Amino acid sequence: MNNKRTFFILLFGVLIFASAQGQTSSPASLKFFPAQVWNDLSGNVINAHGGGILYHKGRYYWFGEKRGQHASEGVNVYSSKDLYQWKFEGLALAPSKDAGSDIAEGCLMERPKVIYNQKTRKFVMWFHLELKGKGYSAARAAVAVSDQVQGPYTFLSSFRPNGNMSRDMNLYVDDDGSAYHIYSSDENMDLRIARLTDDYLRPTNQDSLLFRRQREAPALFKYRQKYYLITSGCTGWAPNQASLHTADSLFGPWKLVGNPMEGPQADLTFGGQSTFVLPVQGKKDSFIFMADKWNPKDLRDSRYIWLPVRFDGKDVKISWMDEWNLSWFSKK
Ligand code: GAL
Repeated sequence: MNNKRTFFILLFGVLIFASAQGQTSSPASLKFFPAQVWNDLSGNVINAHGGGILYHKGRYYWFGEKRGQHASEGVNVYSSKDLYQWKFEGLALAPSKDAGSDIAEGCLMERPKVIYNQKTRKFVMWFHLELKGKGYSAARAAVAVSDQVQGPYTFLSSFRPNGNMSRDMNLYVDDDGSAYHIYSSDENMDLRIARLTDDYLRPTNQDSLLFRRQREAPALFKYRQKYYLITSGCTGWAPNQASLHTADSLFGPWKLVGNPMEGPQADLTFGGQSTFVLPVQGKKDSFIFMADKWNPKDLRDSRYIWLPVRFDGKDVKISWMDEWNLSWFSKK
């Protein structure tokens, strides 16, 4: 009798506990928790570092570096309708088994970004490529394409754009459909921009210096006809102070505004490094700043810091929050 009672009491307790756990994933409590472990819908930790997001036909696609403890293992892609819950779609680009390939296993594939070309109907991926066994000396940009957003992507070529070294990078598509590659060059001293060919597969020779201030991790966005560019300093995996530049034209002149971060560790970008600024669909003037909080001892375990961008007149501020959700944009 007593045993039976104990059993039911325990069962009741387990059920209460389980339902409380269940609530944390119910839509009402969907939130972003910057720098905390973020699982995909299968319960695995999201592995998409140095990433960027493409919105296509009602879904967001998050592309990022698949990392082992240190290894670079290709480019992962996840999809989501709401930005909180991510479904793993697979390895969008795998390193090659062919030892002669530029992307042979053991190469470094960093900061992948994907854009969609309306004319060719191809999805075009650019990333920073370092050749196997050569450290960071190759300093190349690389391009891959796919007919489907989630891939698999086919590697096309790697090169130094117009002969320039190319490390940390991003892509930007302007309102008129022209696309640009923003990249750290000359041993990261320079930040450059190159307009891409109409098919987005190569740089054109419209390629110019933005500024020479030793910056990397560029993340560019446009707000009310002005361009905003967030970058980091060059301290490897260690965090440093971000800076914001603004310009009326992509080719400059770019004006240094200062550090847009606010709150604890604001002068270290909250322990993170910029990777992308995402325009939220259907919410005017709403942007999410995305950063990586690198863990160099186990790169897989590097965390994601997503925070909303606040506009104060023409001033941009990004404040630390332990947790937040998209309703922040309606309240601002
Ligand atoms: C950082 C860069 C990262 C990665 C790292 C390696 O400067 O932003 O993407 O390349 O160096 O140390």
